[in-house]
Amino acid sequence: MSDLAFQRCIDPQCGGTADLADTSFQCPKCRGLLDVAYDWNRLPLPKKLSDFEAKWTTRHQPLDFSGVWRFRQLFPFAPDDKIMTIGEGQTLCQRADAVAKFAGMKPGSLFLQYEGMNPSGSFKDNGMTAAFTHARTVDARRAACASTGNTSASLAIYCAATHLMQAVIFIGSGKISYGKLSQALEHAALTVQIAGDFDDALRRVQEVSRQLGIYLVNSVNPFRLEGQKTIMFRILEALRWEVPDWIVVPGGNLGNVSSFGKAFMELKELGLIERTPRLAVVNAAGASTFFQLYEKQGLRWNGGAIDQPKYEGYLQAMDAGNLRADTLASAIEINRPVNLPKALRALDRCGGVVREATDTEILDAKAQVGAGGLGCEPASAASVAGLKKLVKEGVIAPSERVVCVLTGHVLKDSDATVAYHSSDPKTFDEKLGKRGVKRVQFANRAVQVPNDLNEIIKAIELYA
Ligand code: F0G
Repeated sequence: MSDLAFQRCIDPQCGGTADLADTSFQCPKCRGLLDVAYDWNRLPLPKKLSDFEAKWTTRHQPLDFSGVWRFRQLFPFAPDDKIMTIGEGQTLCQRADAVAKFAGMKPGSLFLQYEGMNPSGSFKDNGMTAAFTHARTVDARRAACASTGNTSASLAIYCAATHLMQAVIFIGSGKISYGKLSQALEHAALTVQIAGDFDDALRRVQEVSRQLGIYLVNSVNPFRLEGQKTIMFRILEALRWEVPDWIVVPGGNLGNVSSFGKAFMELKELGLIERTPRLAVVNAAGASTFFQLYEKQGLRWNGGAIDQPKYEGYLQAMDAGNLRADTLASAIEINRPVNLPKALRALDRCGGVVREATDTEILDAKAQVGAGGLGCEPASAASVAGLKKLVKEGVIAPSERVVCVLTGHVLKDSDATVAYHSSDPKTFDEKLGKRGVKRVQFANRAVQVPNDLNEIIKAIELYA
């Protein structure tokens, strides 16, 4: 298997490679990011994407049941007997006309890819099963991540379900929602709370993993991104193998957009699709490094020759001004996205754009997703808030076919949901107002009534 799959530097000028079993997750020549690469010519491939439908008849087998591994021919880095699945990837791609209306789109144009249905409640399980499988091929005993909450929940659940590794989780202090923290604690992960934010925690976990030889599952691990490609394969499947015009995704550490771009580049290279969709990434306005660098400063992939002084200069200026990420969309409260170069490549190949959305816009979009029948956490709704902007700007036409990825479940952050809906649209909730939220357009407040049958009936007749 090993000569059919290997790790390769993303910079074509560098050309560095690493063995499949290497767990340093940086190019040995230039210390840059690595891809998992395949010798496709020597691998069995489907003739067309619809050939994957044959797997539906063998769903009783765990690898074909998994919404990730039934596409394993498109990321063949592990033998079947090493694959570690807990049934991830049973997710929905749902037509969403009410949300389409909110975003200014025509009925039938918008689909929501709901990744909250995964075992740990977010898209992370798509990648975690792949990283876990790789960890198993190298006999790792401990696995670590820094997290804004979902990666840690996913790691914790895979460790608890398989008993193959001990989870070590680094989180920033006060920076994680209770829903996600509770998952790490419940699933017996060693949880280390650092006096700092996610960016600090990520730096530390990389140092610690190197020093102690702990397997790292953050998205700098290219095997995670191989699993996340399947979110795109399932979208294509749901659309009967027709490529949509746009995929819209929230951007934090930029693992998803990097993985989605790689998925489409490979499908095109393999002749399994004729064109790629366009990609739109949406940052929270309080954590908008990618938006600033891509849209405001014109940073581009440039064939791998990224303008390093521009990139590093931006990060240094951020440090000098002690500018910290700050958004209620805590999952994407990240100012130093590790996958930025890969994300630039994805946008280059797929004709991408980046936008930022304020917390006010994100929470309104989230409430509309909820009212439309799918519940998501704030970070996920950035995709819908960004779509609304892109339609208003005329970048996306109302009749184009768009899929917004809803990355995490609504119950991940019920504090944000309750704070929003219990706010008075006129006076505002203290908590949200203090964090810069300017309106709560769709607040659905609980109706206060005395404990009296007549009053209760009166209230119901009045409001329902
Ligand atoms: N949406 C949710 C719900 C997330 O948890 C994350 C990232 C993102 C979007 C951003 O995805 O990093 O691929 O751009 N959460 C990470 C974590 C950082 O630690 O759980 P990305």
